Amino acid sequence: MKVLGIETSCDETGIAVYDSVSGELSQRLYSQVEKHREYGGVVPEIASRDHVARAAPLVTDILQEIGAIGDIDAIAYTRGPGLIGALMVGANLARGLAWAMQRPLLGVHHMEGHLLAPLMATEKPDFPFVALLVSGGHTLLVDARAIGDYRILGETLDDAVGEAFDKTAKLLGLPYPGGPQLAALADQVASSRFDFPRPMTNRPGLEFSFSGLKTAALVLVQNETPLDDSTRSEIAYAFQRAVVDTLRIKCERALEATGYADLVIAGGVGANRLLRAELKRACEARGARAWFPALEYCTDNGAMIAYAGAQRLAAGQVDEAVHDVLPRWSLESLPALQG
Ligand code: KG4
Ligand code: ZN
Repeated sequence: MKVLGIETSCDETGIAVYDSVSGELSQRLYSQVEKHREYGGVVPEIASRDHVARAAPLVTDILQEIGAIGDIDAIAYTRGPGLIGALMVGANLARGLAWAMQRPLLGVHHMEGHLLAPLMATEKPDFPFVALLVSGGHTLLVDARAIGDYRILGETLDDAVGEAFDKTAKLLGLPYPGGPQLAALADQVASSRFDFPRPMTNRPGLEFSFSGLKTAALVLVQNETPLDDSTRSEIAYAFQRAVVDTLRIKCERALEATGYADLVIAGGVGANRLLRAELKRACEARGARAWFPALEYCTDNGAMIAYAGAQRLAAGQVDEAVHDVLPRWSLESLPALQG
C-alpha cells in the first residue's frame, strides 16, 4: 500500500510516499527557515504563503518519480496541531488530490507522526513504550500502548524544550532556530564554570517547566555581558546539560512508573547529540533501551505523516469526507487502532 504524506504544520514543507509493503520511502523536504530568520521566529503568514508556493510542485515532482500515480492508495496530511493557515494549505491540497484521484483521505496528528517515526526503521520497539516528544512546540512524556492509544504522563507547564533552546540561543546571539547551533557551541568546551537549575526535579511528578531556565540564562547573559567566546560556550554547555539532565530524570521516572523497558525519543530536539547519548546510557544502566528515529526523521518531515497514515489505513480507518484542521488537538483524543 502506498500512501502520499503531506506535512505543512509549521515551517517545513514535507512530501513523501511510503510503501507499507516494501518499506520504501521517497521524500521531498523544503525548509523555510531562511525566510523566517530575519524575524527571529516563524511568521505564520509567510509560512502559509510559502507552503502554497512549494507544496503542489513538490507533490508533482514526487509523483513523477513514483511513475504510476494510480499506485497511490491514500493521501495523508497533517491535520494538526500547528499554525492554522499553514495546516490549511496542506489540508486543502490533500483534499483536492484525494477527490481528483478518488482515494481515501487521512488526517494525521503531527505528534503521532513524530511518535511513530522511530517505527519506520527495520529494527524497532514493540508497544507498549514510553515516548519522549521534544520539539519546538511540545514537550510530552507519553505512555504509548498501541497506535492511537496514548496517555500523557507529563507535559510542559510553559515553554517547550525546543523553544527554550531557541530563546537561549538568541540570547547568545545565534540565529533562529538556534537549538542546533547552541548545541554546537556547547560542544566546543568540556566543562563550564556555570550551572543552571534542573527544574521540577526535586519533587515527584512528570511535568516540565522550562521558562525559569530561560530566565536564568537571561540573567546570566546580562551579568556576563560583554560575552567572550569561551563564556558563550560555557553558558551553552551549562544550559544544555541542565536541559538534558532534566529530561533524563523525567524519562527515568516514567520508565519506573510504567515498568516499560523501551523509551522512544522523537521530535526536533531528539536530534541533540548529548540527549541521545545520555538517554541511551541511562536506559542501558537500567536494562531498558532507548530508540531514536534517524536524524532526518527527528525534525518535521512528510515521511512520518505518510507512515502514520499508512498504519491507520491498514487498520481500516478512513476519515469523514468533511475535514477541518485542528490547530489544537490532544494526542489522547485519537482513536486507537483495532489492529
Ligand atoms: O520537531 P521540530 O522540527 O518542529 C516542531 O514541530 O517544533 O523541532 C524543531 C525544534 C527547534 O526548536 C530546534 O531548535 C530544535 O528542535 N532542535 C534542536 C536540535 N535540533 C533541532 N535542539 C537542540 N539540539 C539540537 N541538535
Ligand atoms: Zn514537529
